[in-house]
Amino acid sequence: GSGGHIHDVDFSFEGPFGKYDQMQLQRGLQIFTEVCTACHGMKFVPIRTLADEGGPELPEDQVRAYAAQYPVNDEAANMHLFDYEEGAARPLTENDHFPANASQNAPDLSLMAKARAGFHGPAGTGINQFLKGIGGPEYIVAILTGYTGEEKVEAGTTYYENTAFSTGWIAMAPPLYGEDVEFADGHSNELHHEAEDVAAFLMWAAEPKMMARKKAGFVAVTFLVILTSLLFLTNKKLWAPHK
Ligand code: HEM
Repeated sequence: GSGGHIHDVDFSFEGPFGKYDQMQLQRGLQIFTEVCTACHGMKFVPIRTLADEGGPELPEDQVRAYAAQYPVNDEAANMHLFDYEEGAARPLTENDHFPANASQNAPDLSLMAKARAGFHGPAGTGINQFLKGIGGPEYIVAILTGYTGEEKVEAGTTYYENTAFSTGWIAMAPPLYGEDVEFADGHSNELHHEAEDVAAFLMWAAEPKMMARKKAGFVAVTFLVILTSLLFLTNKKLWAPHK
């Protein structure tokens, strides 16, 4: 299992009727853009989905402006940062995906919120996952807030002690300290708020249709309850003469 020290977070999107918080996703997008893209890509996520219902719901013109601000393959300045569509020297459009970024060996973040589990046990039963969710976003919060300040260098690589990382030492320097970004909505930019906002955004990136899926599940369960009741009554009526 992982290093532990992963706390449950009461995210708005949890529970059978949970929904993404549009403003939180917008703040998370801002952190992702201003901080994480320096090293991480998110190449499976189409930029146009920023306008989708249930997501950050940016207006179409803002989505276009957002895409265009990624300077792709601008030689010296950006070649090392964005290795998206090699050779294509043009700004991105909303029909492109977020850039890939292989420059620092940082993993792509498209599916990270579903690739990691925050909760296990007890004793491998998975009961905690049933009660609290898989814990992907909680794991991301725990990584971002789990630095102890200790560092070590091994074979030329610097590792940072982190209470949430499986080996205890992660090759990612602390990306957030608090007050790393200024939010337009005036929301707190304390470290744990920033961590939760970017984790929520990455959960949306990994599972943009969560709300539709929950709604379909609710409709399906309701339908099955009604169908079961009708079949039960029909069955009773059919067999009544033979009892
Ligand atoms: C790994 C998130 C910024 C470099 C990771 C992991 C996550 C993550 C969730 C995976 C940990 C795991 O494998 O379980 C973020 C977020 C960022 C951010 C949300 C922005 C707030 C950065 C920046 C850099 C960076 C700016 C480079 C300066 C790395 C590297 C790894 C990594 C090298 C691999 C670490 C290892 O496997 O030891 N990041 N990151 N990250 N990140 Fe970041």
